[in-house]
Amino acid sequence: MTEKTDMHVNEAGYRTFKLGNYIFIRDEYFVHIKWPNGSHTLPADRFLKALMRDVAWNFFYGIVNFDEVFGTANHYGTVNVFAGSFNVGYRSNGKDYTETFESAPARAIFEAILEDWTNEGFDPFAAPTETGSAFGPKRGSNTVAVKRQRVSARRMAGVADDTPLRGDANGYLVNRQFADVVQDEPEIHAEQGFEGEVHAFNLFAYLSRSDVTWNPSVCSVVKDSLFCPTTEEYMLPVIHGNDRVEWFIQLSDEIHWQIADRDTGAARARVVMKAGDVAAMPADIRHQGMSPKRSMLLVWENADPALPELYASKKLKPNPIDF
Ligand code: PHB
Ligand code: FE
Repeated sequence: MTEKTDMHVNEAGYRTFKLGNYIFIRDEYFVHIKWPNGSHTLPADRFLKALMRDVAWNFFYGIVNFDEVFGTANHYGTVNVFAGSFNVGYRSNGKDYTETFESAPARAIFEAILEDWTNEGFDPFAAPTETGSAFGPKRGSNTVAVKRQRVSARRMAGVADDTPLRGDANGYLVNRQFADVVQDEPEIHAEQGFEGEVHAFNLFAYLSRSDVTWNPSVCSVVKDSLFCPTTEEYMLPVIHGNDRVEWFIQLSDEIHWQIADRDTGAARARVVMKAGDVAAMPADIRHQGMSPKRSMLLVWENADPALPELYASKKLKPNPIDF
């Protein structure tokens, strides 16, 4: 056995990280997480794809389950990093563990893990057939991919001083699975004096040029109403636990959703959404989507910070509509 000169780098070439009482270790295939009363192992690609989103989304809305055991619960300023807290087996045996952190330093550790553990050629945001492998001993890095900023319009994509539209010129090429999407743009005829207030763009063309999957980006904002369209292919790499209602509008192709109780994981429904279908995902569920072909989905979020408390205290019922 050779003596290691840097105790923080293991024989696979990866650094070990600590966040509070959690220790994160990666080898060629797996990520191992340890905490005071337990440990867990998950595949490195699954972990990195979930971590990428947790970092880019700043812990998102509510709960980001990396898998059935490990994840984060956003309290908007602080974040709970948990193991087994939303898994009945762990909870009923007293094996669950949660630690609360200030969001910014916790995110900084997550960013450092993502940067060290992502190999050259692996893009955690890309569809499986559009990226290299996450596995093997440490091999370079992919800083450009892991530092990608999430699109977040202040008003609307394409207006002056806001997030730009996509085109060949700025490097966003039409995806292979959206080659048939018409690329024309609407004509805008604003009344004199309203030129800066009236705007329109071809959302299908915009989405056909997305280089990432399962990454809702804020494309238009009206107060707390956020339109977050996204392109999906293969599987949502997290199991999202809602802390508010989310509306989905399937814009093209189809997605199969597995829906379970947010707190226990008990199965609740399976929803197959086809182009044109609309769903209101309740505030008390977790869900994971599967998209057999690249598809377009509009996620409509309500960013009102009062909502999690209103649902938690049952002042609002979890489903916004009864049939
Ligand atoms: C969700 O959890 O609601 C979600 C997350 C990412 C997506 C789509 C939906 O791309
Ligand atoms: Fe969700």
